[in-house]
Amino acid sequence: MTQQRKPIVIANWKLNGGLDLICTSVASFIGKHFEAQIVICPPYIYMRDMMTFLQYSELQIGSQNVSKFKSGAYTGETSAQMLKQAGCALCLIGHSERRAMFAENNPGCRTKVQLALNHGLLPVLCIGETKEEREAGTAKEVIFTQLSEGLLDIDLTDKDICIAYEPVWAIGTGLAATPDMVQEIHRFIRDKLEALYNPTVAQRVRIVYGGSVNKTNAKELLNQEDIDGLLVGGASLDPDHFLEICKQANNVAQV
Ligand code: 13P
Repeated sequence: MTQQRKPIVIANWKLNGGLDLICTSVASFIGKHFEAQIVICPPYIYMRDMMTFLQYSELQIGSQNVSKFKSGAYTGETSAQMLKQAGCALCLIGHSERRAMFAENNPGCRTKVQLALNHGLLPVLCIGETKEEREAGTAKEVIFTQLSEGLLDIDLTDKDICIAYEPVWAIGTGLAATPDMVQEIHRFIRDKLEALYNPTVAQRVRIVYGGSVNKTNAKELLNQEDIDGLLVGGASLDPDHFLEICKQANNVAQV
């Protein structure tokens, strides 16, 4: 992480949590100042409840997904505009679980990125290879395809996005990628952003890592030059554990 980019820690609760977790999570952040941006993505149904507590903390709310449609007859969907109105700061797009279980693809992700930008949400485009792809030596190819197709013709002149590198084999397995492995991929992503856009955009975009992040491996990951933050699943469901990870991001931000 470098001083130019503000670190960000995002909690992805997935299909977990409830009102009790909201209370304990927010409570542990009350009155604490963070140099890093801290965002929790609860299930949609809890966003409003969470929002009512947020005035007492610096926490922000994000969404785990966003519809690729603006409005209309799309049962069960939630639009970018609705998320913005609900107070969301960001939305995850193309998480590997959505790609694998809900048939999300790169063109669909691209549409979501554009809609999020149009409505003032920070899109967090999730990319990453499977175990088989890494073993076959095609990880970078897969990542480049997800990146270039997910951002196809997206103008980033004065818009902000975030890229989340989440190798599928590291998600929920307890087998985090090593800091060196992550740094190599993040540098690759930044180089590709420079090729697709320009050096200014490449230096501005935050690239975060997700996959079995915990309070033990967070610091070393955050110390890598091109790791600008963390996307935390399982460990974010324990408020004390998540707070500890956020403190580490804060320490790195203050150096
Ligand atoms: P885990 O931290 O549980 O591996 O999940 C990572 C993730 O998918 C965050 O989006």
